[in-house]
Amino acid sequence: MLNSPSIICVRDKILLEAVFKPFHVIFDTGRLLSPKTRIRDAEQDHSQRMISPLKTIGVVTSGGDAPGMNAAIRGITRIAYSKNLQVLGFERGWEGLITNSSRPLTPRSVGGIIQLGGTILHTSRCLEFKTPEGINKAAETLASRSLDALVVIGGNGSFHGALELSEETDSLIVGVPASIDNDVFGTDETIGFDTALNTAVDEIDKIRDTAISHERIFIVEVMGRARGFLAATVGLTVGAEIILVPEVKVETRKIVERLEENNAKGKKSGIIVAAEGIGDTRKLGEDIEKETRTEVRLTVLGYAQRGGSPSARSRLLASLFANEAIELLTKNRGNRIVGLQNGNVTSMDLEKSCSKEKPLDLNLLSLANVLAT
Ligand code: F6P
Repeated sequence: MLNSPSIICVRDKILLEAVFKPFHVIFDTGRLLSPKTRIRDAEQDHSQRMISPLKTIGVVTSGGDAPGMNAAIRGITRIAYSKNLQVLGFERGWEGLITNSSRPLTPRSVGGIIQLGGTILHTSRCLEFKTPEGINKAAETLASRSLDALVVIGGNGSFHGALELSEETDSLIVGVPASIDNDVFGTDETIGFDTALNTAVDEIDKIRDTAISHERIFIVEVMGRARGFLAATVGLTVGAEIILVPEVKVETRKIVERLEENNAKGKKSGIIVAAEGIGDTRKLGEDIEKETRTEVRLTVLGYAQRGGSPSARSRLLASLFANEAIELLTKNRGNRIVGLQNGNVTSMDLEKSCSKEKPLDLNLLSLANVLAT
């Protein structure tokens, strides 16, 4: 496709103006059609472009922060520079694209950040980006800053936004999965997941001490939004007696039965790891306490899971993903997310990633169940 003469380089301003000036925007059933959309209708394959080499790329961190985002910013900037690309970092997630708020990133300006949690670019939940106007403003920023590409470091929600933006821009877009939820289809692991996992494990190991001393049941609520990836892995690795995830409904009666069996076996305390997505954990605790007549306490681990210095693994993934993202872009490939699949760093079509739900490996739960006997 790269050499096909029929593909028009829409980033080439002269050609763009020559082709579209007279009809810069037209309406189709009430929808504003951008030049990009009109070309796409004529040409289906837009994951590659036939144009001059990349010059400038943008980077944005979006959605919930995840430890390792800074390592990814550093990796992208330094690898890009090694290939003579300039890098612009957008501030506060999609908001920075809407308000055209950015700063140049250089190998020096990203020094000393590999070990820092959070994101030096800041992030936000940007409601305006969920509107067509917001998307159009972001697309305009990409065009006005002459950005050839945008690297989006974030999770599922950010990639859905990126997909919408890709419909309105000719800049190549590549997603770098970073989220403690680990719920992005197309990668076995997201940047930050391992750090959040270790943070939760450290806390629960401490909670275990007091649970044993007081012979109490503890419910520990972990994050994960509507999915149970974090809860399942945390639960297995702390030896939780019970793991509750949104993907598998468990009746309170079953939980009580299990705890009573444990009690009869001499296990007087227990840890229940519950994903936040299962619902009201406080009410669950009250119900279990009533039924078992054992003291139940609830700990919500909360936002501590999103912070802290990234683990070695999160830094490694960030660096490998950054490398793959720049590799893709230098080959003029966009609209993809990078990821880890069966131990290999690879990439997947952005639209495919957004249209599928990553399955939770239920074997983790069965194994945890056996291990907790
Ligand atoms: O997506 C990351 C995450 O931390 C989820 O685990 C959690 O449900 C959500 O973000 C919290 O979002 P907010 O930062 O908007 O409160």
